[in-house]
Amino acid sequence: MTTETATRGLAMENFVSLGECSSQDVRTILDRAHEIKRDAEGHRDDLAGRSVILLFEKPSLRTRVAFEVGIQRLGGHALFYDHSAQRIGERESVKDYAKNLDRWVDAIVARTFSHGTIVGLARHAAVPVVNALSKDEHPCQALADLMTMEEHLGSLSGRTLAYVGDGNNVCHALALGCAHLGVNLRVITPGGYEADDAVLDRAREIASGCDIETSTDPADAGGADAVYTDVWSSMGDDESSEDRRSAFEAYQINAGLMARAKPGALFMHCLPAKRGVEVTDEVIDGASSVVYDQAENRMHTQNALLSLLLGR
Ligand code: CP
Ligand code: NVA
Repeated sequence: MTTETATRGLAMENFVSLGECSSQDVRTILDRAHEIKRDAEGHRDDLAGRSVILLFEKPSLRTRVAFEVGIQRLGGHALFYDHSAQRIGERESVKDYAKNLDRWVDAIVARTFSHGTIVGLARHAAVPVVNALSKDEHPCQALADLMTMEEHLGSLSGRTLAYVGDGNNVCHALALGCAHLGVNLRVITPGGYEADDAVLDRAREIASGCDIETSTDPADAGGADAVYTDVWSSMGDDESSEDRRSAFEAYQINAGLMARAKPGALFMHCLPAKRGVEVTDEVIDGASSVVYDQAENRMHTQNALLSLLLGR
């Protein structure tokens, strides 16, 4: 497609980082997501005639299926391109990827090792580019997480989320997402596995009326409305590292840790989970776990995003 990027309803043209979008855009996406979930029928043609390519260097269940099924439900066409055998940019430049793809498709959704690859695609493509997870950030996940919290907690302003675990891509996106919606965030990580200071600084710039705090003490999850964790080794990390495992031992989300949070506090995880490692079965299968709602909402939030970026 050589026509100009069709942005409708959002100030942003790409969704590469929550650090680059406005709080108003985040609100608009979440409002549309709630609406699509309520009235799927009313949005069945939002992407009619549109094609979206999914370029994935890494494995996926939720992101891939939620995009493929979601795009189909909006009347569009999704094309999955398994890029696990080779990094994007190796066979030909990222620029040439972008400048070929934008002649055929209406949007590019990419999951990559390097965040720079997604930045490069967005710089050179004439169509919207969506970050479906990079080493630095997982913004689509944070949209679903915020939607899920709104469903269970109502207005999020002034609520407190405790993220306990690795200061990784999911943590970064959550910090930025919480800042946009006025959610207090406690980022609780072992020493050496902290979130990126630049991302936390950006979250604090965005935040109005909420605090983005850091700690190394799991007890600081005390009083939280929701407790969130992710795997201790992300895709591309050295999972077998003994140092890594022992660093995280005290950060497992179990009944003892949940008892410190508010009574009935939500348990959240982006999935996939390593059961018995970062979270016990008792917690992930417990009454306050909302992990499958988060998974479902990946589809509604991604559909909202695409319908706003591409909709007529
Ligand atoms: N949460 C998430 O992104 O899951 P997948 O890696 O299965 O897509
Ligand atoms: N932090 C994890 C998230 C997976 C959805 C990873 O990057 O592997």
